[in-house]
Amino acid sequence: MHAAVIQASDAPPVYRDHPDPAPRHGGELAVEVLAAGLHHLTRAKANGSHYSGNGVYPLVPGVDGVVRDEEGNVRYVVLDDTALGTFADRTLIDPRRSVILPGDTDPVRIAAAMNPAMSSWVALRRRVDFHAGQRVLVLGATGNAGRMAVQIAKLFGAAQVIAAGRDATRLGALTALGADETITFDRIGHAADVDVVIDYVWGECAADAMIPLLAARADRTAPLTWIQIGSIAGQTAPIPSAALRSARLQIVGSGIGSVPARDILAELPELASAVTAGAIDVRARAVPLAQVTQAWTAATDDRIVLVP
Ligand SMILES: NC(=O)c1ccc[n+]([C@@H]2O[C@H](COP(=O)([O-])OP(=O)(O)OC[C@H]3O[C@@H](n4cnc5c(N)ncnc54)[C@H](OP(=O)(O)O)[C@@H]3O)[C@@H](O)[C@H]2O)c1
Repeated sequence: MHAAVIQASDAPPVYRDHPDPAPRHGGELAVEVLAAGLHHLTRAKANGSHYSGNGVYPLVPGVDGVVRDEEGNVRYVVLDDTALGTFADRTLIDPRRSVILPGDTDPVRIAAAMNPAMSSWVALRRRVDFHAGQRVLVLGATGNAGRMAVQIAKLFGAAQVIAAGRDATRLGALTALGADETITFDRIGHAADVDVVIDYVWGECAADAMIPLLAARADRTAPLTWIQIGSIAGQTAPIPSAALRSARLQIVGSGIGSVPARDILAELPELASAVTAGAIDVRARAVPLAQVTQAWTAATDDRIVLVP
């Protein structure tokens, strides 16, 4: 078979021959890969910058994807730590980490959507005590995960969703996806009275937003839950101590580890159904797996999906 192979943390993946995988125990299935998303997590695990990476090379990247098993079932699967990912003609899966999809599912759409959509879906369902009627601010709302967070917060009954980002033009497109208001980071005080912040940016960008947002709150004793999900603007954030003292702010993270794997897996069927039903707008670009080296560093707003 063919696979994308990475030889070292700073090397790009190369499309080449690879031995066919054979299940190592009865709980494992060898499956055909139909589509696999190129997510930030995929790259970060491969270059060793994500906390869940295991540093084993050579590595076939790919953290999730849509596969077909030998019985013809089409499944969305999330792989555990492995040196054989989904950027291959075939891979090995634990079926307990998968959900069977309807036969007419578009594999590219699912492969593009599940990782970015899961970030807010799981955070609101499994990490914090979110309930319908609350107000939500999405920081970094113009990205794939942020756009989906706007839609998912609405789907879950948020009374108001404010989308924040750095580019007013790109923010404008979020109104059609359900955002009640769009603001650039310098106007963050306009989102002061939200109950939940879904933060994809972190870094100085998030830290700089905290004091203006908290200072403008009508009631600083009203609880505000800040969910740290992505760190596209910086891995560390210089949080002002006053932010934690001057308002009823709690900061929590949501991701692999802070949410148990069983909780993440339990949300997959309903999320897959929502994506399949078209409840979430998805921007996907299918690229042949043979072009993985160029795709790895391609600059695009769409989520690249590699198709063997
Ligand atoms: N914890 C989880 O479960 C989970 C799951 C999925 C994703 N994530 C993380 O969430 C983050 C976003 O993922 P994504 O899939 O949405 O990425 P994406 O599609 O590439 O979008 C990136 C977003 O970040 C913004 N951005 C980039 N650099 C920035 C900066 N220096 N300052 C402010 N904003 C900046 C972009 O704004 P412009 O539109 O202005 O360029 C865009 O909104 C990543 O860190 C990813 O690893 C976490």
